[in-house]
Amino acid sequence: MGSVRVHSDFGVYLESLQIRDADSIAENANDYELARGVGLSHFPHPYGRSDALAFIERATAAFAGGIETHFGIHMDDGTLIGILGLSGLDKADRKGEAGYWLGRKYWGKGYGKKAVRLLLHFGFEDISLNRISALVYPFNETSAKLLRGLGFQKEGTLREASTDGKIMLDADIFALLKKDYREDADIVTEGFDAGSFAH
Ligand SMILES: CC(C)(COP(=O)(O)OP(=O)(O)OC[C@H]1O[C@@H](n2cnc3c(N)ncnc32)[C@H](O)[C@@H]1OP(=O)(O)O)[C@@H](O)C(=O)NCCC(=O)NCCS
Repeated sequence: MGSVRVHSDFGVYLESLQIRDADSIAENANDYELARGVGLSHFPHPYGRSDALAFIERATAAFAGGIETHFGIHMDDGTLIGILGLSGLDKADRKGEAGYWLGRKYWGKGYGKKAVRLLLHFGFEDISLNRISALVYPFNETSAKLLRGLGFQKEGTLREASTDGKIMLDADIFALLKKDYREDADIVTEGFDAGSFAH
């Protein structure tokens, strides 16, 4: 599959990962607070170029196989500012789990919410999901706010679902269903062939 791009007039767009993204990914991802928000049990910290390359390789293979879809989040000038994606894709039940992060210098400017809106278009319209969920640590108010603002509902708390390496952590589960999804922008996906995602 060539490069896949999801865009609108948001000032940020999504593009499938390329080897050339490795340095920007490592530079932005090497941040303890960011890793803590995503989950220290699975997100490397410290985060170096080799972690970024391993991630790009894994993510590219998973995208080609229709198992996961990860994208770089870019500003309109091409700068990579973060990563997001859908994992745990279940073709039979048409569901997936969203994950996302931005480099710290880009927090709090509305980019995260816009990028997740683009991801929702990809998930609901391009790969025909019916349900998109997200797991959020209870301390992560920004992420919970972002999701609620997009119509996600909190469904409950998964008790001790994760660890930070020292203590067990609860995770709140949020989800948005296709029937509650309203796309109020002109969002376009280019270069995507849904073949490997078909049921
Ligand atoms: C979570 C994250 C992606 C959010 O992206 P962002 O661009 O910073 O968020 P936005 O600017 O789009 O704001 C989203 C919402 O949070 C609110 N918000 C932004 N910064 C906030 C802060 N510091 N405290 C509380 N609320 C905040 C915004 O007002 C907005 O709410 P609204 O839609 O009701 O106006 C980003 O902060 C991040 O990468 N954090 C570290 C990694 C992480 O935790 N990932 C999520 C794992 S579940």
